[in-house]
Amino acid sequence: MTLIPATSMGASLTRLDGPAKVTGTARYAFEHPVEHPTYLHPVQATVAHGRVTAMDTSAAGRLDGVVAVLTVFDAPDLADTSDGELSILQDDKVHFRGQLIGAVVAESPEIAREAADLVRVDYREEAHRTELRVDDPRLYAPDTVNGGHPTDTETGDVDAALDDAAVTVDQTYTTPIEHNNPMEPHACVAIWDETPGRPQLTLYDSTQGVHSVRQMLAPLFGLELEQVRVRSPHVGGGFGSKGAPHAHNVLAVLAAQRSGGRPVKFAVTRQQMFSLVGYRPPTIQRVRLGADPDGALTAISHEVVEPTSAVKEYAEQTAVPSRTMYAAPNRRTSHRLVPLDVPVPNWMRAPGECPGMFAGEVAMDELAVACDLDPIEVRIRNEPDVDPESGNPWSGRHLVDCLRTGAQRFGWAERDPTPRNRARGQWWLGTGMASSAYPALSMPGNTARIEYRADGVYAVQIGAADIGTGTWTALTQVAADALGCDTDSVDVQIGDTDLPSASVAGGSSGITSWGTAIVTTARAFRQAHGDKPSTGAHTITEAPENPDADKFAMHSFGAHFVEAQVNRDTGEIRVPRMLGVFSVGRAINAGTLRSQLIGGMTMGLSMALHEESVRDHRFGHVVTQDLAAYHISAHADVHDIEAIWLDEVDEHVNPMGSRGAGEIGIVGAAAAVANAVYHATGIRLRDLPITADRLL
Ligand code: MOS
Repeated sequence: MTLIPATSMGASLTRLDGPAKVTGTARYAFEHPVEHPTYLHPVQATVAHGRVTAMDTSAAGRLDGVVAVLTVFDAPDLADTSDGELSILQDDKVHFRGQLIGAVVAESPEIAREAADLVRVDYREEAHRTELRVDDPRLYAPDTVNGGHPTDTETGDVDAALDDAAVTVDQTYTTPIEHNNPMEPHACVAIWDETPGRPQLTLYDSTQGVHSVRQMLAPLFGLELEQVRVRSPHVGGGFGSKGAPHAHNVLAVLAAQRSGGRPVKFAVTRQQMFSLVGYRPPTIQRVRLGADPDGALTAISHEVVEPTSAVKEYAEQTAVPSRTMYAAPNRRTSHRLVPLDVPVPNWMRAPGECPGMFAGEVAMDELAVACDLDPIEVRIRNEPDVDPESGNPWSGRHLVDCLRTGAQRFGWAERDPTPRNRARGQWWLGTGMASSAYPALSMPGNTARIEYRADGVYAVQIGAADIGTGTWTALTQVAADALGCDTDSVDVQIGDTDLPSASVAGGSSGITSWGTAIVTTARAFRQAHGDKPSTGAHTITEAPENPDADKFAMHSFGAHFVEAQVNRDTGEIRVPRMLGVFSVGRAINAGTLRSQLIGGMTMGLSMALHEESVRDHRFGHVVTQDLAAYHISAHADVHDIEAIWLDEVDEHVNPMGSRGAGEIGIVGAAAAVANAVYHATGIRLRDLPITADRLL
């Protein structure tokens, strides 16, 4: 084999897993062929709060083809019940409507479903509360918020600065419950091999991280890590909902313990996802800005109230972006939670930053109007030299470049700032913009192994995940570049706990975390074995901590530009044009990077105009629990979306020079749409989603 110097970094290399996917041969979790499979259908609570007093399984058990029925009264014990979401079927308590309280395992999915319907459940119902109110007496401050951030921050004298400010904005913004809807619903196959004294669990799972699934599930079943193998080669999207195992995984394993060694297949239905796999919690956000007449901020206050589940705390970091975004000398942020009788909220693409920046960036638009300034100019005037929160220099804050580049490309200069002042036929026309920021996170605990094989190919092994983003391909480019070979000479292997430890595909941290491990290992390999290694030569190395992590503030940035049209008669909103300009460090694969960015922007458009899960508080469940009632932006809604990025290399985040790009595209996108709708109509909407009825 000749080693060809890599030219692949930045190239738009077509997805290596593409042919398997489009020919239908890529295996997703549910599709793994196993011997004598059984199929699980869950029994879910039909009350929101209370106790199960009886479960009559006799009719279900009599059905031909039923293998096992599990209830809260007879399910196997878990070894660790400390996780309120995962600890299911261990007692008779019901914490939310839709909670898993039983299962039927049968010879076919149809039999399992029919039998599950035959299980009769009696409850002692208790009063439930599912509605978020800012005056709820149970409001409390969590110890920290998601990501380990402090719950509250206070710098300077915010109240005095607001009192003295020449210009103020004081508004409340709300975002609704939103549900992750990856194309592939959650699914798993659980195989429990009951070797006496040393059982073995194999789980094929649709997950964003096999190693974290293993780490979380092993103690629940009293197993050592070595007794659990999780495999997940292909994943049809996740958006955070597959970032951690959920109760359905536990149910499948409990059922497998009762199925005589037969594999249990559990495909969660679209409807079941609306109560089982997390969701973006709704937010109520009060934002107060104080500024000089020239638009220079003197104070930012961002106070957030959100629900959590009574059974397990989830505290989103919604106000955190306001700590670093702009250079106000006086800043206050806070997070308060209300425990409700609802399923456990969880990560959904840019949890925290996404809803938080919606409020912050609409508020900045309102400040621009109040100061009679261009919204881009108001942001540039508040650009901080260093991170206001840590005082650290930026690894690369190119927000102003993004704003200026975007303004030019979008044709912002010709914009007349007066709202409700342009129309074509029946349509009001407007344009709007917003900034975007997302932290450049890096996760610990990543190890890669590289071996030179007899066929002249480097096997590069790391238990990472490609959830449809193109990670597999990008990591191949990273490995080829670091090894100094062609991408054809690299075989990246991911998605299996038999491969070295890897962190979860979440927080836009994947490429940084896994890529650092691969580059470190490749360098060590070349040092040990040179560029003409012998067959079988191998190296395994753990990624070192980033020495710059505490010295620099590391974030991706972006600027969104949106054109909106609003129908005078019907209020219908169309978004014919979106432009995003991003600062994400070096592009590793231009094609998959662009896809991540426009995917995020599309999801932001969807958030702005459509996405909302409606809870019926009488019964406590989300009623919009399918894609007919839970609306998302479909093809007809998405017109001209363009994402570009600055030509740059970040010297501090990772050895590739890149930053994460999975979430930056959604952050700020909904604010840009709302700001464009304001410019078109003169109607300022502060509650998502923006629907036609509110523009009439
Ligand atoms: Mo993402 S919500 O960090 O998978």
